[in-house]
Amino acid sequence: MTNDTPSLIRALNGETVRPAPVWFMRQAGRYLPEYRELRKQAPSFLDFCYNVDMAVEATLQPMRRFAFDASIIFSDILVLPHALGQDVWFVEGEGPRLTPLTDPSGLSFKGFDAHLAPVYAAVSGLRAALPAEKAVLGFCGAPWTLATYMIAGKGGAEQWPARTFAAREPETFDALINILTEACIRHLIGQIRAGADAVQIFDSWASALDENGLERWSIKPIHRIVEGVRAQEPGVPILGFPRGAGHGYLPFVRGTGVDGVSLDWTVTMAAAKELQRETCVQGNLDPARLKEGGTQLDDAVRHICEHLRDGPFIFNLGHGINLATPPAHVTQVIEGLKTHTA
Ligand code: CP3
Repeated sequence: MTNDTPSLIRALNGETVRPAPVWFMRQAGRYLPEYRELRKQAPSFLDFCYNVDMAVEATLQPMRRFAFDASIIFSDILVLPHALGQDVWFVEGEGPRLTPLTDPSGLSFKGFDAHLAPVYAAVSGLRAALPAEKAVLGFCGAPWTLATYMIAGKGGAEQWPARTFAAREPETFDALINILTEACIRHLIGQIRAGADAVQIFDSWASALDENGLERWSIKPIHRIVEGVRAQEPGVPILGFPRGAGHGYLPFVRGTGVDGVSLDWTVTMAAAKELQRETCVQGNLDPARLKEGGTQLDDAVRHICEHLRDGPFIFNLGHGINLATPPAHVTQVIEGLKTHTA
């Protein structure tokens, strides 16, 4: 590792880094006025994601404003189902919509790489635009989380459609998970070859799975993704985010072999320290505290830093930033955590 090795990568390689590296999930987006301005220029959210110049610009916006140590490429997890041939669109003010999937045999890798080429071009553009000490992050949605959107055709809280599908037709569900596992491996390798220094796998709906479900639909496929990516691109750290997995976090870390784990805000500091003995931990400020600001925010940042600063640690939110968040609160957090982890 050289002096230019990004602090985030050093933490993911097991170093205790002072001050702690920081980035925020959804750090690009609607809480920034310059994002809302740029967003108006694209006919749709997916057009925005596939426009290389716009994606690079949206990714750079928070990097200009804030002292983040890493930059996650502006894209979306749902570009993968789209690249596999499923219809995907976004309804303004509501969220994603897909034509609900009943039979995974209709999905196809034909044209997959060409469809995602703009994402890789944006990663290259971003890597060229940022100094070496800032890490560029690629990402994908985990197979289970992607499947929940693909089966329901929209977001949902409890993922009833995907859970009942998996319980009713486990072999068909396995076939879908296998296709998505392959798609995730290819998409992460594409981003790494374009210049990503590390990647994160978002299993945002891990919270909906029971113990056996977590093992079969989250941990096993993510382990295969980790092994598949490492076989072709060894040495690029992989973060996993099994949001809401609770007592499943430790089996997730052990079973997947990830280099770092992103913690949602419900994970206690005692549990986080236990996980930190196995891997780098990232997290886990409640986005609601960030939105509200004030001394309760300073206190929450200090609480996390005091518990996690003596091991491999990346400061982040426990989930994506809320669109009503005042940008000044982000500066407040970064200043606070740099002091508390100096
Ligand atoms: O800055 C970044 O974090 C990079 C970009 C990024 C987006 N989506 C941009 C986006 C990332 C990493 C994602 C991941 C993503 N997308 C996840 C996993 C993380 C999580 O939040 O759990 C999921 C589940 C999605 C699917 C998705 N995309 C939903 C449910 C929505 C609607 C909710 C919302 O906030 O509107 C999106 C839209 C989306 N993705 C927006 C952005 C900036 C807002 C759309 C807009 O600007 O019009």
